[in-house]
Amino acid sequence: MGRVTVTRLLPTGGTAPLIAAGHEVVTNDSDTALSHSALCDAAREFDALVTLLTDRINSEVLEAGASGGRLRVVSNVAVGYDNIDLAAATRLGIAVTNTPGVLDETTADTAMMLILSASRLASEAEADLRSGAWTKSGGWGINQYLGHDVHGSTLGLVGYGRIGRSVARRAVGFGMNVIHHTPSDTREAGWTEDLDVLLAASDVVSIHVPLKDSTRHLIDRARLAKMQSSAVLVNTSRGPVVDEEALADALHAGELFAAGIDVYENEPIVHPRLLSAPRTVLLPHIGSGSIATRTRMATLACEGAVAVLAGERPHNLVVNR
Ligand code: GLV
Repeated sequence: MGRVTVTRLLPTGGTAPLIAAGHEVVTNDSDTALSHSALCDAAREFDALVTLLTDRINSEVLEAGASGGRLRVVSNVAVGYDNIDLAAATRLGIAVTNTPGVLDETTADTAMMLILSASRLASEAEADLRSGAWTKSGGWGINQYLGHDVHGSTLGLVGYGRIGRSVARRAVGFGMNVIHHTPSDTREAGWTEDLDVLLAASDVVSIHVPLKDSTRHLIDRARLAKMQSSAVLVNTSRGPVVDEEALADALHAGELFAAGIDVYENEPIVHPRLLSAPRTVLLPHIGSGSIATRTRMATLACEGAVAVLAGERPHNLVVNR
């Protein structure tokens, strides 16, 4: 049986598939990310790495794995795998797996929560209540915290994969008119080829693309300027898809009404101008954060490692060996 290391504490029961398959499992119980050199050591010493999105599995880590002669698979407990150098994994014959299909609904819930809470200024209103400012001001007022209605508005989805479609289903239930942009024609109602057209037409824009070279700063200063000044931007995908400083500038300048953000360019650092931006709901990357979903993500990642170590081809394979 193989030796598998889990780089960070998983939800309870997360490693069950590895244990059931008889593998030796060594978990970093501290729940803080391993250093680069600790990751290289682990890659040298183990047959499988079960990693989190906070682990940067670059070519050096993978080369350490190849030089140790043991590492066969990196199983990322995330649907995104931008933290792993796929080209190096392919070159070195190390398999990579992810967790597709199990977090779509939970992440769509988070996007919907941000669409609603940003549109209706929930964070600002709650902050005033907690600080005593609302009570001191005399309480309820007809002109306080006036947001924009979600019902009857147009939601523009940037990206229309599993998560984007799950958001679309919810948004229809909230009375939104939904359009989407993908580079190739989805042949579905609401598709637009031109991202700028979608940005200009949308009251709310929600981003659902993976982070790749082609999507880094996809929403840059020029694209933000295409949006209506009454519009809301929501991002639950990956931080670097949006130019965070440009977003903060647009919010401070009133060129955008509000934003709901779950992911950041340099996590866990959040741009100070975004932290101080008005009408902004900021969450600490909790998109898939329900107990059931995070547990299923962990078991699915571990199932991927078990399959590769058994010489099988798991359905959640990103890079084959
Ligand atoms: C979470 O951000 C994921 O990619 O699963």
